[in-house]
Amino acid sequence: MAERTPGTGRPRGFRSAELGWPELERLPHPPRRVPLLGDVLGVDRHSPLQDTVRHARRLGPIFRRKAFGREFVFTWGADLVADLADEARFAKHVGLGVANLRPVAGDGLFTAYNHEPNWQLAHDVLAPGFNREAMQGYHAMMLAVAGRLTDHWDRAQAAGLEVDVPGDMTKLTLETIARTGFGHDFGSFERARPHPFVAAMVGTLTYAQRLNSVPFPQLLRAAARRNEADIAHLNRTVDELVRDRRTSGADGGGDLLDRMLETSHPQTGERLSAENVRRQVITFLVAGHETTSGALSFALHYLARHPEIAARARAEVDQVWGDTAEPGYDQVAKLRHVRRVLDETLRLWPTAPAFAREAREDTVLAGVHPMRRGAWTLILLPMVHRDPAVWGADAERFDPDRFEAKAVRSRPAHTYKPFGTGARACIGRQFALHEATLVLGLLLRRYELRPDPAYRLRVTERLTLMPERLRLRLERRSAPVTVPSPAAAEAPASEPRCPVHGAGD
Ligand code: HEM
Repeated sequence: MAERTPGTGRPRGFRSAELGWPELERLPHPPRRVPLLGDVLGVDRHSPLQDTVRHARRLGPIFRRKAFGREFVFTWGADLVADLADEARFAKHVGLGVANLRPVAGDGLFTAYNHEPNWQLAHDVLAPGFNREAMQGYHAMMLAVAGRLTDHWDRAQAAGLEVDVPGDMTKLTLETIARTGFGHDFGSFERARPHPFVAAMVGTLTYAQRLNSVPFPQLLRAAARRNEADIAHLNRTVDELVRDRRTSGADGGGDLLDRMLETSHPQTGERLSAENVRRQVITFLVAGHETTSGALSFALHYLARHPEIAARARAEVDQVWGDTAEPGYDQVAKLRHVRRVLDETLRLWPTAPAFAREAREDTVLAGVHPMRRGAWTLILLPMVHRDPAVWGADAERFDPDRFEAKAVRSRPAHTYKPFGTGARACIGRQFALHEATLVLGLLLRRYELRPDPAYRLRVTERLTLMPERLRLRLERRSAPVTVPSPAAAEAPASEPRCPVHGAGD
């Protein structure tokens, strides 16, 4: 069962905004507030994020919404978000959707409260699993999984069939994290339907989101039972995976599971407990694929819709990779334009669309809004990333050139945060970016992408974002004959950055 605050039934970590924001009354809220219920008229409970974004456009850079007596503060103004990034005064807040995932992910890295000792322990043990050397080790496996995808797409193309982009990207990213992190093969490309692990994961994410939109969790009794079955399935899958590794005595070559099972903390000598390993494996299998598959799917949508941008990215791939059958690790970071396509995709559709920050002590946000210790706010990334004051009057337009180095330097800090901020920023950032750049490069090199002219982008929400029912037709390109130009071959790869600190800045 969810950890609940005694007496309120709410997830631990929830503090009502009335208690934390002494001047809450000054913040705007949507019109037509209903007594007791709050801002519930016209709410679409299947797309709470997009609903909130619609309000944000009218209400401005900081506002509040109330649902069934619970009030939340949302923030997106550049000066406010920059202030919230100050690690000395603010920290991650585990609330709402993230807290609802505690029954499945417990004190795993993503859902751990800041004070829980297992966060630092796991962070220190697992962070080296994302350094440059570790990433180089994953590259060959990433290529092998991408090969499964292109085999699958070649067959679809030869049969004249459309491809199911989100479905296939989910298969790809699940296999990638399962193999690189845990030496496990889910056989996703050999299945007609999603792997039961994916079905259980989608079930728990959707349930965690729904919990926020009902006054009493007790109303979801049938859904709660299904959720328990989903969690049991996730646990069973992970327990089998760990048991296989332990009993086979196989060496995972220093993969994430090896680190979880064998590595002790460099200073304290402590190890992760068996229960914590279970939480971490689930965390990484879920966090390690869901958001990346969304990012790849949105990117393919934009590339299909903007043939001129696809052509430029493809020309770069042909030039940098030439006719190398299998691009090497360093050749991926040289795909600067492809990477900018991804950056721009995550600007418009940050697939983890919000994260929460809480005040460490009583403070005044941006010198204007008093907050008590523990008060928190949700940062609404799609609005942070579409603020005309930062991104210009054409902020809604897809334009990868916004991520040219000069343009990036000209923008204030903390205006682009798809991977979160500070100590609790995404540990898998480099992993996601390497995998996604590699796969886009391989797909651009192999296919022309043909959109369905009738398709209109709709976005599914289950805490993360994904384009709904996106299908594409493919045309095979003939193999490129270009050889890499000496300049391209020698272009320095992007500087390897710390996978965690400074991420998203
Ligand atoms: C495009 C892909 C991805 C996006 C947009 C993304 C986004 C994020 C964001 C915004 C956070 C911070 C959440 C918060 O503050 O509450 C986060 C944390 C995290 N992400 Fe990612 N992520 C991605 C890929 C990955 C991958 C590939 C992995 C693992 C291989 C991963 C593992 C994690 C973990 C474990 C955390 C928690 C870190 C901590 O609190 O110490 N993510 N991610």
